[in-house]
Amino acid sequence: NTNGAKAGKSRNIAEMLEESNKNCIIFYGSQTGTAEDYASRLAKEGKSRFGLETMVADLEDFDFDSLDSVPSDKVVMFVLATYGEGEPTDNAVEFFEFVTGEDAQFTQGADVPLGNLTYVGFGLGNNTYEHYNLMIRAVDKALQRHGATRVGEAGEGDDGAGTMEEDFLAWKDPMWAALAEKMGLEEREAVYEPIFSLTPSETLSINDTEVYLGEPNKMHLEGTAKGPFNAHNPYIAPIAESHELFTVKDRNCLHIEVDISGSNLSYQTGDHLAVWPTNAGAEVDRFLSVLGLTEKRNTVLTVKALDPTAKVPFPAPTTYDAIVRYHMEICGPVSRQFLATLAAFAPDEETKAEMTKLGGDKEYFHEKVNTHHLNIAGVLESVGKGKKWSNVPFSAFVEGINKLQPRYYSISSSSLVQPQKISITAVVESQVIPGRADAFHGVATNYLFALKQKQNGDPNPTVFGQTYEITGPRNKYDGIHVPIHVRHSNFKLPSDPSKPVICIGPGTGVAPFRAFLQERAKQATDGENVGETLLFFGCRKSTEDFLYKDEWEEYKKAMGDKFELITAFSREGPKKVYVQHRLKERAEQVNKLLEAKAYIYVCGDAANMAREVNAVLAQILASQRGISEAKGEEIVKNMRASNQYQEDVWS
Ligand code: FAD
Ligand code: 2AM
Repeated sequence: NTNGAKAGKSRNIAEMLEESNKNCIIFYGSQTGTAEDYASRLAKEGKSRFGLETMVADLEDFDFDSLDSVPSDKVVMFVLATYGEGEPTDNAVEFFEFVTGEDAQFTQGADVPLGNLTYVGFGLGNNTYEHYNLMIRAVDKALQRHGATRVGEAGEGDDGAGTMEEDFLAWKDPMWAALAEKMGLEEREAVYEPIFSLTPSETLSINDTEVYLGEPNKMHLEGTAKGPFNAHNPYIAPIAESHELFTVKDRNCLHIEVDISGSNLSYQTGDHLAVWPTNAGAEVDRFLSVLGLTEKRNTVLTVKALDPTAKVPFPAPTTYDAIVRYHMEICGPVSRQFLATLAAFAPDEETKAEMTKLGGDKEYFHEKVNTHHLNIAGVLESVGKGKKWSNVPFSAFVEGINKLQPRYYSISSSSLVQPQKISITAVVESQVIPGRADAFHGVATNYLFALKQKQNGDPNPTVFGQTYEITGPRNKYDGIHVPIHVRHSNFKLPSDPSKPVICIGPGTGVAPFRAFLQERAKQATDGENVGETLLFFGCRKSTEDFLYKDEWEEYKKAMGDKFELITAFSREGPKKVYVQHRLKERAEQVNKLLEAKAYIYVCGDAANMAREVNAVLAQILASQRGISEAKGEEIVKNMRASNQYQEDVWS
């Protein structure tokens, strides 16, 4: 665990609480940072509203057999995201196995080992996935089984319905009321208390080599970066190749290859590449400007955690510019609760009233902020009518805005064919949002788009008409390098290549299947017996967004009859044709292949496509095997459980 700034600190929960004088520990199981963010928010709120002595903790950093020694006048909170197919997040794997395991061995070994434990739970899930909020549900059940007492409901936030933030807000107030009663806490008027102090350095300037200008850690700062490269330590990979696979006016698709030969990284076909993005220059400027920090952007700051249990979320000393550009999710959705916090620091009374209203009124907030996809600078500009928000302590932003997160991409190359070059296939979209003057752009995709231009020799990349400045720490992120790491996934071809496979991947969902085909074509060329390979691919038009069109023909040459590409062009005829329609047309063939133990893979959109494919498959099994649809669904379920049916989906 390289996240261990806590080296030497106790892994025993009760001891940690005792040593640090805390009565509330909030654990997060987080993959993309939201659960971690919610945990921090609970910690702040517990302290400022109820005087609880709170601390936030990474599940990875503790041993859970010590849960039974937490005294009953303290409280343990769990904020747990469910990832992918009902899996724990990376940092929660061991905790999950321990707590939900049949024979969890607690230190004291009592019959009801957690009889003293008071806990609170909130889950983050997505109802478009099969195992909705499995983590919090299973953990809640296990804790109760061991005799622990829950306070409040086990809350569930739903990213699929887009209501995560509101679900969280609606859950937490009754929870706090119940907790206050149980622990005899007095509510007081919440005042902002900083967790971090950021102080201008009197001695350092931006030219000093010990100042971090975006370098993710000390090794990078000192130019001695070495592996293992992982979620705490990216590899700054050279971009070996980048081009557009298609371009239509507000949408295009990039093929990008990074060279990992200078690292000790390796990957397997089907894995994910994590890309660490940088915020667009224009957004950084805008954010610094509305805070009145433009002139001070290069001021060097020393940063300290005022609470010894808190960890500073980026390396320091550093500058305002570097913090905002490389470490803060400044373009993401705005938290309503955070606006309420900022109201106290509004530039005038009228602005304060408006911020308070936005923070308190769910419908009003939705109409003014959410529907326009405003980011924090957008809200501050519009509510403050151009006035500067220079009264807000910068620490409030550091604490209230999520850490900038890596984005994942399904690797579209085969490790058998190109072990040292990883390719990804990323769609870049300019989204028109009703009622918003400018189009909305995603952080990472546009960063990649700008990198593509720079790698192709354009010194001043533009993204949809806007200049996209890419600067980098000591010029290492110069546009031809990109910070990455590899994330292992279970989305894997059968180890025996003679097994048949059925791949379903419309749009960018085809990414891992390009890797699969590259691999199987190579195996066929090498004389191996490669099984039947069906690929269902869908896009709008054969002439517009047909990804890797020419390559499929190459694979066909190598594999002959063993490969068939089945296309669904949704916007060519009078009616929409999707991959699941094509799948249904091939019912007999699909069923036969499944009977021959074919593996079936689905990749791409989780919200609709993956669900519809699942349903169609159940229908196919029902009609072909003369069984009920319910029985068909059960078979599909079993296929999932046995990994014969694998998904790599995102929303
Ligand atoms: P972001 O800036 O993160 O925005 C994403 C969305 O969040 C927006 O579209 C919008 O709906 C919402 N949002 C953001 N900011 C706001 C705001 N201020 N207000 C309201 N809403 C907001 N993508 C691919 O193209 N190819 C792949 O192969 C691929 N594989 C993936 C595999 C996995 C396992 C996962 C989890 C995802 C994969 N993705 C893939 C998706 C990819 O990781 C990114 O999510 C995608 O590229 C968008 O990232 P972004 O930073 O550009 O957008
Ligand atoms: P559409 O945009 O014309 O509706 C890649 O994005 C392809 O997936 C497009 O052809 C898109 O069609 C299609 N698509 C959209 N919704 C889908 C769904 N629910 N199931 C399968 N394919 C879908």
